[in-house]
Order: sequence, then C-alpha cells, then structure tokens
Amino acid sequence: MRRRNRWVKTLFWGSVLGVAALLLVVFSGVAVGAFEQRTLSVPQPVPFSHALHAGGLGLSCRYCHAAVEHAAYAGLPPTETCMTCHTYVRPQSPNLALVRKSWETGEPIRWNRVVNLPDFVYFHHAAHVAKGVGCAECHGRVDQMPVVYQPQAFTMKFCLDCHRRPEARLRPREEVFNMAYQPDPALGARLKALYHVRPPEALTSCSTCHR
Ligand code: HEC
Ligand code: HEC
Ligand code: HEC
Ligand code: HEC
Ligand code: HEC
Repeated sequence: MRRRNRWVKTLFWGSVLGVAALLLVVFSGVAVGAFEQRTLSVPQPVPFSHALHAGGLGLSCRYCHAAVEHAAYAGLPPTETCMTCHTYVRPQSPNLALVRKSWETGEPIRWNRVVNLPDFVYFHHAAHVAKGVGCAECHGRVDQMPVVYQPQAFTMKFCLDCHRRPEARLRPREEVFNMAYQPDPALGARLKALYHVRPPEALTSCSTCHR
C-alpha cells in the first residue's frame, strides 16, 4: 500500500514538473519571439527607401506594385521601373551599383521577403482593393518607412477581427493608396452596402482563407 502511494506521488509530482517545464519552454519561446511571424525589417541587397520614393517623391504604390489592383499578388517592380529614373538620377551612385548590374545582365534583383503567409492560408490583394480596404490597414505607414517592416503579424485573429466587422475599416476605393486616410465608421457602413461586401458569416467561414 505504502509502496503504491509513493508511486502515485512520484507520478503526480513528475507530471507537475513536466507541465512546468513545458510552460517554461513555451513562455520563453514567446518571450524571444520564436513562435511569432516575422514583423521586423529584413536586410535588402539595395538600400531602397519607401520613405524617400513613396513618401518624399510621392510615387503611388501602384507605380511599382502594379498587379495589386488586379491580382492575388502585389508583385515587386522589375529593374526597368527603377532605371526609368536612375539612368539619369544618381547614375554613378555606389548604392545603385546592383541595380545597374541587374539592368546590364538582365538578372532580377533578389529582394528578401518581409511579409509571408503560411502556404495553407489563401490571400488575394485585388479582392481587398476592390472593396475599399486600404494598404495601410495591413501594412501600416509604408510611406514613412526607410526600411519596410510589418507593423503587426498576420495572425488569424488579425484577419478575423476585420472580417467580422469590416465597416469600421472601409474607405472609398479612390483612397485605397492614400496612406494618411483615416476611415470613418459611418461612411464605412454605407460603403459596405454600396460595394456589396459579403456578410460576416461568409467572410469568417474557414474555406474563405483555407481552401
Ligand atoms: C519606386 C518603387 C516602389 C514604390 C513607389 C512602392 N514600393 Fe513597395 N517595394 C518596392 C521594392 C523594390 C520592394 C522590395 C524591397 C523592400 O522590401 O524594400 C518593395 C517592398 C514592399 C513591401 C514588402 C514586400 C515583401 O514582403 O517583401 C510592401 C508591403 C510594400 N512594398 C508596400 C508598398 C506600399 C504600401 C507602397 C505605397 C505607399 C509602396 N510599396 C510603394 C518598390 C516600391
Ligand atoms: C520617379 C523616379 C524614381 C524611380 C522610379 C526610382 N527612384 Fe530611386 N531615387 C529617386 C530619387 C529622386 C532619389 C534621390 C536622389 C538624391 O538623393 O539625390 C532616389 C534615390 C535612390 C537610392 C539612394 C541613392 C544613393 O545614392 O544613396 C536608391 C538606392 C534608389 N533610389 C533605388 C531605387 C530602386 C531600387 C528603384 C526601383 C525599385 C528606384 N530607386 C526607383 C528617383 C527614383
Ligand atoms: C487585408 C490585408 C492587406 C491589404 C489591404 C494589402 N495587403 Fe499587401 N500583403 C498582405 C499579405 C497577407 C501579404 C503576404 C501574402 C503572401 O505571403 O502570400 C502581402 C504582401 C504584399 C507584398 C509582397 C508581394 C506580394 O504580392 O506578396 C506587397 C508588395 C504588398 N503586399 C503591397 C500592398 C499594397 C501596395 C497594398 C495596397 C493596394 C496592399 N499590399 C494591401 C496583406 C494586405
Ligand atoms: C481591414 C479589413 C480586412 C483585413 C484586415 C483582412 N481582410 Fe480579407 N477581406 C476584407 C473585405 C472587405 C473583403 C471583401 C469581401 C467581399 O468581397 O464581400 C475581404 C475578402 C477576403 C477574401 C476573399 C477573396 C475572394 O475573392 O474570395 C480572402 C481570401 C481574404 N479576405 C483573406 C484575408 C486574410 C488571409 C487576411 C489576413 C492576412 C485578411 N483577409 C485581412 C477585409 C479585410
Ligand atoms: C480571414 C481569414 C481566415 C479565416 C476565415 C480562417 N482562418 Fe485559420 N488562419 C488564418 C491565418 C492568416 C492563419 C496563419 C496564422 C499564423 O501563421 O500565425 C491561420 C491559421 C490557422 C491554423 C493553424 C494554427 C494557428 O492558429 O496558427 C488553423 C488550425 C486554422 N487557421 C483553422 C481555421 C478554422 C478551423 C477556421 C474556421 C473556423 C479558420 N481557420 C478560418 C486565416 C483565417
């Protein structure tokens, strides 16, 4: 009897310790960000600045991310887009050496990805642009970023929070690229009807994003 008791105790404290150890691993993992998607900026081969080109020079996002209104992917600009200006602007700059090399060899610049969804999540840019969801809602003030970073991780909660109640965050289509625009919920409710935005039941069903 005594013997059995001791076993039960060992088992009990063993499992308590086991759970504690697991929690420690999980929380230290959370603390160092091991389970978070990347939200920080990543090093790039060319020191390209959105703050300078989109903010300062006022170039529209679609000048370089031309597919964003029509396709699932926004896409990155070809070297040709850069060379329309940099054939004349700072043609000797060492910071542009890689751009010139790419132009000569025809080999695209290898930019590193900043944002990336897991493969089991389906996303479509044009579907959002068409219903008045601004770039800034998901990417933040890119026009103020010398180096792009993702201000909030694309967690499932982040997507669902808006899919449950999009009206607070809709804007007129012509303001989609306007980084400074502040959505107005009263107008958003009218736009929701005007743009025929589907009801929350449809937008939160699993197959919308996992197909
Ligand atoms: C002059 C061209 C140009 C303009 C204008 C421009 N971009 Fe970019 N964008 C790029 C290039 C080149 C990259 C890849 C290098 C980098 O990440 O900085 C990029 C990267 C990005 C990324 C990160 C993509 C990833 O996952 O790697 C986002 C988000 C982005 N741009 C959003 C915007 C938004 C929003 C605007 C409008 C405010 C905009 N861009 C205007 C050229 C441009
Ligand atoms: C509409 C014209 C225009 C386009 C298109 C453009 N740039 Fe620029 N870029 C500029 C101007 C203007 C400057 C600032 C030059 C200065 O400071 O004297 C600049 C500066 C730069 C610099 C800093 C240069 C230095 O000497 O430090 C880099 C790097 C750069 N651009 C990369 C790019 C890349 C990569 C692309 C294509 C994705 C691109 N630019 C597209 C006009 C443009
Ligand atoms: C509803 C959220 C959302 C909105 C609005 C949005 N994006 Fe994105 N964007 C994403 C997500 C999520 C990804 C990553 C997609 C992936 O990894 O498959 C992404 C990726 C990108 C990329 C990297 C290249 C690519 O196509 O994957 C660029 C550039 C970009 N977005 C630019 C823009 C611009 C410009 C706008 C405004 C017209 C915009 N985005 C609006 C969520 C959004
Ligand atoms: C700020 C609001 C907002 C955010 C954030 C948002 N969405 Fe959406 N999403 C919408 C709206 C509005 C629609 C359009 C609904 C319609 O057409 O009826 C939509 C539509 C979609 C569609 C349907 C596309 C189609 O044509 O079937 C997918 C898929 C989707 N979103 C995925 C995502 C994912 C994944 C995220 C997170 C990375 C996300 N969304 C974040 C507002 C948002
Ligand atoms: C609006 C888009 C959207 C809808 C709707 C959605 N998901 Fe997700 N889901 C995501 C995104 C984005 C991720 C990736 C999260 C990450 O990597 O942190 C994800 C991740 C997951 C994961 C992986 C584990 C996790 O939490 O990261 C599971 C499981 C999942 N979703 C199940 C579901 C189920 C079940 C439903 C329906 C009740 C659903 N999802 C509806 C966007 C969505």
